[in-house]
Amino acid sequence: MSNALSKAAAARKALDFIRPGMVVGLGTGSTAAFFIRALGEKVKAGLEIEGVPTSEATAALAREVGIKLADINRLDAIDVTVDGADEIDHDLQMIKGGGGALLRERIVASASHRVIIIADDSKLVDAIGKFPLPVEVTLFGAGLTARRLAEVFSHYGIKGEVRMRPGTPGPGPFLTDNRNVIVDCALESLPEPGRVAHQIEHIPGVVTHGLFLGMADIAIIGSESGTRIIGGQAQA
Ligand code: A5P
Repeated sequence: MSNALSKAAAARKALDFIRPGMVVGLGTGSTAAFFIRALGEKVKAGLEIEGVPTSEATAALAREVGIKLADINRLDAIDVTVDGADEIDHDLQMIKGGGGALLRERIVASASHRVIIIADDSKLVDAIGKFPLPVEVTLFGAGLTARRLAEVFSHYGIKGEVRMRPGTPGPGPFLTDNRNVIVDCALESLPEPGRVAHQIEHIPGVVTHGLFLGMADIAIIGSESGTRIIGGQAQA
């Protein structure tokens, strides 16, 4: 099974957790896109739900497939969010933000009663830290903030390279939907993600980072042999 088929299998399985009337957080990235398209099919078949997108790209896709979007500012909570990950371990610690949508993903996930991560099995790792850690920082002072980030890693004895994500196409940096920039931190290891996250959060200029710790309730991992669920409360 290719990665695409594994992603699609995980995405389809997540539909089991969606009930009529729910407000559903819609993640960003290629795996989340499989889910949004599958959810759109259900909506066309009569399922009534509202979606809360985590990026402009996701909002556009949701509209394209007929999902009604809710204004996050009018909501107290989101019933369930389905999103992808760049890396996830067996304790559901994650690195996210490869697509640059980490701030909205964090806001939506933290407002959700349940967060379901969908991923192909290449994303499941014993320890997170190989995927370059994205950190969203303000454009103002971004170079200085990047140096502060490098100091934090050096304090923990973590070797690696810290660089501004380039725009596609350039010139200039990649800009997020929030008009911030991303500093990608390619680290040789990440021994204490919780402590590192805490230090990063204290750097002025950091908006958020891609360490999503203690946020996921379950993960649906798609693979050649089908799907499996990781997490304590797996019942749909
Ligand atoms: C978006 O910013 C990320 O957090 C995505 O959830 C993550 O990059 C997964 O993307 P894919 O499903 O495309 O691998």
